[in-house]
Amino acid sequence: MSVLAIDAGTTGVTAVVVTDNGHIESKGYEEFTQHFPHPGWVEHNPEDIWQATLSACAAALSGAAASPACVGITNQRETAVLWDRRTLAAPRRAVVWQDRRTVEHCVRLREAGYEPRISQLTGLRLDPYFTGTKLSWLAENDPGLWEGVESGNVAIGTVDSYLIARMTAGTRHVTDPSNASRTLLYGLESGAWEPELCELFGVPESALPEIVPNYGPLGRTDPGAFLGLDLPISGVAGDQQAALFGQTCFDVGDVKCTYGTGSFVLTNLGGEIARSESGLLTTVAWQTPSGERTFALEGSIFVTGAAVQWLRDGLGVLGTVAESEALARTVPDTGGVVFVPALTGLGAPHWEPDARGLITGITRGTTRAHLVRATLEAIAYEVRDVVEVMTAGSAPVLKADGGASVNNLLMQLQADQLGAPVERPAIQETTALGAAFLAGLGAGVWGSKAELRQTWHLDRRFEPDEPDDAGYERWRAAVGLTTAAAR
Ligand code: G3P
Repeated sequence: MSVLAIDAGTTGVTAVVVTDNGHIESKGYEEFTQHFPHPGWVEHNPEDIWQATLSACAAALSGAAASPACVGITNQRETAVLWDRRTLAAPRRAVVWQDRRTVEHCVRLREAGYEPRISQLTGLRLDPYFTGTKLSWLAENDPGLWEGVESGNVAIGTVDSYLIARMTAGTRHVTDPSNASRTLLYGLESGAWEPELCELFGVPESALPEIVPNYGPLGRTDPGAFLGLDLPISGVAGDQQAALFGQTCFDVGDVKCTYGTGSFVLTNLGGEIARSESGLLTTVAWQTPSGERTFALEGSIFVTGAAVQWLRDGLGVLGTVAESEALARTVPDTGGVVFVPALTGLGAPHWEPDARGLITGITRGTTRAHLVRATLEAIAYEVRDVVEVMTAGSAPVLKADGGASVNNLLMQLQADQLGAPVERPAIQETTALGAAFLAGLGAGVWGSKAELRQTWHLDRRFEPDEPDDAGYERWRAAVGLTTAAAR
């Protein structure tokens, strides 16, 4: 038996077919266009996401021996998507999680004293990152669209809900608690949409999806809409929570970090809603069909792999991202160069939406190798900043995954900085794997989490060596400069 898993990420859609022994049998990938209509704005055309999903799934299925038993979905979170309930066409482009257009809106709400109550209800903070203020912006700036929302013709959701609507030919309008808990509209304690927050952000609750568990019978694909397939949709989760599941971080205190465009560190809290005083978010990890919820603390770092892409595309100092490791290894250290990649503001644990990137310590002797090495070190420092406040200094094992986890130098720097081992699994497509695990649990391909654990295999464990403490001090000083400049 096998499972089809869809990972609808920020820059492209990956589809994999996972066999019941946890191997990836086949894979498809399709990128889609990013729109940047103004500085700081990021938009996606929902139709592009849907077409990329169809292509990626078709490619994955063509390489699979047998038809899968079920399908699971994971997705970029927080992105606001709207579509016509009847035609399923999107009347406008989606506002993406990276979009900063609502900085002012957040400031207004903060100055009006709303932040403590919002944080108490949601476990989140007032930041343009989350869906709530994006929806308020649409209500204010696109009154025609909002009329459709209020009259019930236009549905609101995140990418998971949109894909499920398309796959079921519009018969299902659902989301799951892990995605809902990123919207600023979901109550962490109540486990439901909060009327108080819907009113504050001006969102009619009737336009929001029904919240369903993360696995179980969630819907069925319509063959006319989805590649001729009639399959149960039996798992869904936001991508970072799916990665936590895919890494089999099932025990309280297990920690994973996914290194992608940004990096997201999550630790399993079990059934307790713990709150951070140090800039971490509390979020739902997953909910069982019987309603039992597991929570997570999360440190969301917006720019890590994207900084390496910027070296390639913005500065032209790299031909490919993959070259970064070999080039960084040509120098023993950064020669004192520090790069703070606050290219879209700073997320956890600093939360400075107006912060800008900064490079310090440049001399006549600085080369591109130093800059590339400083970028890899910056990623390790950013993750250390989060892990230190998350684990209160005690060193856990960090389970690493995502595209940049193939970089052995980065993984070693990370272990050194944490003073703790970093473990990389044999399958680094952990996000998609998590969606497959959820769907497979939901459809009976696997019977328990214990069975899932048996499919997790280690690729390599990086043991900590001496950390570069002077480098970390320089990093802290440089972060202080960029946050001070933003205030
Ligand atoms: O919260 C944003 C996150 O879900 C995006 O992940 O992997 O698509 O960059 P990714």
